[in-house]
Amino acid sequence: MANDKQPTDKQIMEAAGRARQHAHAPYSNYSVGAALVDERGQIHIGCNVENETYPLGTCAEAGAIAAMVVAGGTRIQTIVVAGGFDDLATCTPCGGCRQKIAEFADANTRILMIDETGDWATYSIDALLPASFHMPG
Ligand code: THU
Repeated sequence: MANDKQPTDKQIMEAAGRARQHAHAPYSNYSVGAALVDERGQIHIGCNVENETYPLGTCAEAGAIAAMVVAGGTRIQTIVVAGGFDDLATCTPCGGCRQKIAEFADANTRILMIDETGDWATYSIDALLPASFHMPG
């Protein structure tokens, strides 16, 4: 349930930007920050953490989701993804992260990322991951 102290989109974007500054991305040089707001209005952040053994790297969204879960959050109201090389560029969540977001998203979850004009675009999980997997029954 939402509380009356919802962070603004600007605050969530700033949190994603701050998280991005901590990205460990020495192999791709592509730094990503993610900030999400859970059902209680709490912000959780993550950044990509690469590894010398490349496949072991983790995405920013995965870090933010893990932070939400360990803090007791269960649903994503809004998630902002901010990535790029030096400057911010369009960074759409990878396929794996779309599935990870879907686990905690519903039709009202807002997924924000910068677009090619530099503005922020909002997507639903159904737009990013149509016909997604759900266990039958
Ligand atoms: N990356 C993310 O953190 N999130 C995404 O959704 C897309 C990609 C990271 C993984 C890797 O560290 C770098 O960006 C380049 O792929």
